[in-house]
Amino acid sequence: MQIIRSVKDLEAVLQQYEEINFVPTMGNLHAGHLSLVSEAKKYDGITLVSIFINPLQFAPNEDLDIYPRTEKQDLKELEKINCDVVFCPEPNFAEGVKKLHANSDLSKKLCGISRPHFFHGVISILNHFFQLIKPKNVFFGLKDYQQYLIVKDFLTQSTLKTSIHGIPIVREPDGLAMSSRNNLLTPDQRLIASKLSVILKDTALQAKIKNLEHLRVEGIKKLEELNFKVDYFSFCNSSTLEEIDDFEENTLLAIAVNLGGVRLIDNYLIQ
Ligand code: PAF
Repeated sequence: MQIIRSVKDLEAVLQQYEEINFVPTMGNLHAGHLSLVSEAKKYDGITLVSIFINPLQFAPNEDLDIYPRTEKQDLKELEKINCDVVFCPEPNFAEGVKKLHANSDLSKKLCGISRPHFFHGVISILNHFFQLIKPKNVFFGLKDYQQYLIVKDFLTQSTLKTSIHGIPIVREPDGLAMSSRNNLLTPDQRLIASKLSVILKDTALQAKIKNLEHLRVEGIKKLEELNFKVDYFSFCNSSTLEEIDDFEENTLLAIAVNLGGVRLIDNYLIQ
């Protein structure tokens, strides 16, 4: 496995290969990330993973400083699953990046309400990666469903010939969606955190037969009783993220909460 740190070295490697299957990450890899890499490996060409904690997607009051950094361990995991190339750019990689705006209809909803800078930062850094790498395929986890939709929209509007693949959420045995932020939870918070996926699933399974507003109020109440601070609890159209009042095919139930300062998100596509 080749480990590259400079853009110059990356360009030299890219010249040797035609088809790049790209998995962008911020490191602290877990089984969810590794499932993206395994999926990428099914395609012709090489698998390239980037590890870069993108400062552009964090607001000054957010958790950039405490975001888990575990590069040594990450590289071991990637080596084990035969990743071909890992690009770990220097911290100044984001300097001078062209600042882009994510699709405003999609990026103003859900996470975009409390984190208005977030998707613009994500799209700006991804555009920088995509322009350098020109990947054939890119892989995103569906836990970050809104991010997946926004990147998909961005690629549709761009001249890049890159296909995007959304990969199902990987969960811990107790149901908690895998996330690097789970490592920031205390053992007590970790136990409570698993209830998020239980409430999500229970609510989603009743959506076809019960009033959605009633389910929403009940769901929020249950979460608050467990000390979650609810950022949003939304039944929405899974293509537009528009809130809905009545169940329709492909409704997305998306939830974001804060537990002791740790932001957790999860979602369920109700088909
Ligand atoms: O999902 C993430 O880890 C990040 O938002 C991404 C896509 C690597 C961009 O920094």
